[in-house]
Amino acid sequence: MSTPIKKVTTHTLQKLKIAGEKIAMITAYDYSFARIFDTAGIEVILVGDSAGNVMAGHETTIAITLDQMIYHGQCVVKAVNRSLVVIDLPFGSYQSNSDVALASAIKVMKETGGHAIKLEGGEEVTESVQRIVSAGIPVMGHIGLTPQSIYKFGTYNVRAKEKAEADKLITDAKALEDAGCFAIVLEKIPAALAKEVSSRLAIPTIGIGAGNGCDGQVLVMHDLLGINNEFNPRFIRKYLQLENQITEAVQQYIKDVKSTDFPNETESY
Ligand code: KIV
Repeated sequence: MSTPIKKVTTHTLQKLKIAGEKIAMITAYDYSFARIFDTAGIEVILVGDSAGNVMAGHETTIAITLDQMIYHGQCVVKAVNRSLVVIDLPFGSYQSNSDVALASAIKVMKETGGHAIKLEGGEEVTESVQRIVSAGIPVMGHIGLTPQSIYKFGTYNVRAKEKAEADKLITDAKALEDAGCFAIVLEKIPAALAKEVSSRLAIPTIGIGAGNGCDGQVLVMHDLLGINNEFNPRFIRKYLQLENQITEAVQQYIKDVKSTDFPNETESY
């Protein structure tokens, strides 16, 4: 009999923070990649609203809908045996009030089978966080650069470099923790600030462009795998150069088809 898989839960992440072991999180949007990431041993898979960028080709994350996020969530959940699956609430599905936020969170959980939701914002979303957590749904926060507010910020530059914004970020992080978040994503803020926030909170922080003082890291899978040669901000590390490798593979395939090398006898019935 095979040994039962030890599933990652929000409590596992808390234990990792206490033990001082970093948490690894990656985005996924479909069955095939989620299966590989889960088998590779990743602790958290985020079905990010970055799907709007990397899957749908939108310039921002604003356009993706709740139903589209649910579709991606369903595909990922089907593949996963061990990782914690967190699904983003997209823009427009929680900002109007806490009734709407709660209804969206419940819909995501019921229709995807995911394990937690993530939403962006600080003190302004704490009422929603409290109500979602009270309904039994784990919530991951997200502060710093919050892409759903890109038109308010105007740029994707580093946030909270000035004292006033850094102080506000610390207040927001504490408010999210007090509201019941089990973890918080810190996006594109100075490393020293992220380290300070991480040391002040009991819950884990997961950084992206926030230095290595966070309790964990997250990368968009397309960035980690090098699927877009045009996107090269300093906070990403490309572990593969898949755009080049895929291009070469497809060009070779085209040649083989044209030259009738493919399929050969062993590839035929
Ligand atoms: O949507 C996403 O991929 C995210 C990560 C960048 C944290 O929110």
